[in-house]
This record gives sequence, C-alpha cells and structure tokens, in this order.
Amino acid sequence: MHQTILVTGATGTVGREVVKQLSMLDGIRVRAGVHSLIKGENLRRLPGVEVVEMEFTDPESLHAAFTHADKVFMVTPFAQDQTEMARTLVDEARKAGVKHIVKLSALGAGEEPGIQLGRWHREIERYIEQSGIPYTFLRPASFMQNFDNYNSETIKQEGKIYMPCGDGKVSYIDTRDIAAVAVEVLTGTGHEGQVYDLTGPEALSVDEVADTISLVTGKPVLFVDVPEENARAAMQQQHVPDWMADALLELYSVHRAGYSSGVTSRVEELTGRKPHSFRQFVKEHKDCFV
Ligand SMILES: NC(=O)c1ccc[n+]([C@@H]2O[C@H](COP(=O)([O-])OP(=O)(O)OC[C@H]3O[C@@H](n4cnc5c(N)ncnc54)[C@H](OP(=O)(O)O)[C@@H]3O)[C@@H](O)[C@H]2O)c1
Repeated sequence: MHQTILVTGATGTVGREVVKQLSMLDGIRVRAGVHSLIKGENLRRLPGVEVVEMEFTDPESLHAAFTHADKVFMVTPFAQDQTEMARTLVDEARKAGVKHIVKLSALGAGEEPGIQLGRWHREIERYIEQSGIPYTFLRPASFMQNFDNYNSETIKQEGKIYMPCGDGKVSYIDTRDIAAVAVEVLTGTGHEGQVYDLTGPEALSVDEVADTISLVTGKPVLFVDVPEENARAAMQQQHVPDWMADALLELYSVHRAGYSSGVTSRVEELTGRKPHSFRQFVKEHKDCFV
C-alpha cells in the first residue's frame, strides 16, 4: 500500500532534500508543501511528487495539504511567530488523522533555560507531545549549508568570513545527512517517541572552516572574528529585525563558548553511512565559494 508523506517547507534547505530523497523510493507518495507554487515548480518534476500550496498562518489553506497524509515531515521557518504556525500545523495534522510527525528541531532544544532558538523549538515539541500524535524530533547542529546561504557572498568577493564566533568549535552537519535520517525515520519502524541529536563527524572553528575552503578551492579565505556590537550594527544596517539579531547573537555566543561542539554518532547509527565531512561538502559545493 502506498503511503502519503507531507513535507512542509519543501522548498527550504532541508525540506527540498527530504523531498528529493523520498522521491527515489518506491511505494511513497510525496506531497511537497510549498509557500509559493512558482518556487515549487522544480519539485513537481521529481517522480511521485505532488506539490501543494500552504500558508502556515492560514488554517484554511492547509486543509488540502493534510487530507489523507499518513505522515508529516514538519519544518517551520525562522520566524517570530513560528510557534503559532507550528500549533496550526499540528492542529491540522490531528484533524486529518496523521499517524506520525517528524519534526525538524534544533540541537540544544532540550537545554534549560537554553537559548531563545531552542526554547521556540521546545515549545513546539511540547505541543506535539500533548497532541497525542506519535512523533520523532530531529535536533540537528548548525548546517554546513549556512556557509553557502549566508557567507558565500563575502567569501567570493573578499575572501573573508565575518562571524562573531571566536575560536568556538561547532559540529556542523550537512543537510543531506539530516534528510537521510528523516527518510529513515519516516519509512522505517521503531522511531516513535525518540529524540535524535544529529551532528557532523567533527567540530570545527570558523578559522578551520576558512582553512578548509582555502585548501579545497585554492582560494585564500580568512576568518574575521567580529565583536558582537559590530555584528549587531551590521545586522541593523541590513534591516535585520531586532528579535532576529538578538536570537542570532545569542546563538553565536553559545558557539563562541564552545557549547556547540559535541559530536554524536546518530547519523551513522540511523542511516548506516558516515555523515559528510566539511571537506567533502566544500568539494561538492565549490561553486558557492569561488
Ligand atoms: N540553519 C541552521 O543551521 C539550523 C540548525 C538547526 C535547526 N534549524 C532549524 O531549521 C528550520 C529551518 O529549516 P530550513 O533551513 O530548511 O528552512 P528554510 O530554508 O529557511 O526554508 C523555510 C521553508 O518554509 C517556507 N515558509 C516560510 N514561511 C512560510 C509560511 N508562512 N507558510 C508556508 N511556508 C512557509 C519557505 O518557503 P518560502 O521560502 O517560499 O517562503 C521555505 O520553504 C528552523 O526551524 C531552524 O530553527 C536550522
């Protein structure tokens, strides 16, 4: 029997990879939940994938996406009202009789008092726990893809990575490995009620990240450790809202203090494959940096 898996945030960094990997499997109908049908056009070309429009702030727009969905891979965006959005999604999942929610959370979401980013995720996790729907929480470390999404411009133009992280090490993970775990959890058995902390194979400082990019691409890249007040001023100049700047600077302070350097073996245990190293990631994404 075919099962239908809804992926929310399906055009995002993790969601699109989950859709891609699920589309390679037989017996799965993949429903890609997208914010805009135009952005979701590429996903429609994948085998077994249907694309549906979703607006997380509008419950009425969610009905079609959840109808007859057996399982959901749930991504909510980095937004100030993300917990409200998530509650709306969980309510719709319950109405539709969804049998399993796999939620993309964040490493450290279980820490008390933790940081704001983690507290938002934990609030959503609690709402899912109380919904009665079987769940699995994936708590990944920071994504390797952040260096492509947020730093590639200064790397390409100036050969520099500006971040307020000092020499704190972070166990960056490739989002392809998060997706591989998500696919295993969504299609395998025995994952209900589990919480998985997911990291890459090693912890690196941003200085080591810059060295790796230099070594692999042949282009010299330097890390510039930015004082927190300068980072805030730069964000203000780019019209980053205060709530977002506060949350990001708090995250960077945790990185700086070395609290994000723990490495787990979960990816290999769950997928049977070693997670991608940062070196492999750069090799396969050279265009983002040169
Ligand atoms: N980045 C990291 O290092 C990191 C680490 C750990 C955990 N996380 C967590 O990962 C999650 C983000 O995942 P990601 O990076 O894959 O996301 P992303 O690339 O930012 O994508 C977010 C997705 O949600 C969609 N979306 C945004 N607002 C929406 C709305 N109102 N209605 C419907 N769809 C909407 C976006 O579509 P449009 O683009 O079309 O709006 C996009 O498809 C966050 O919860 C974050 O805390 C991130």
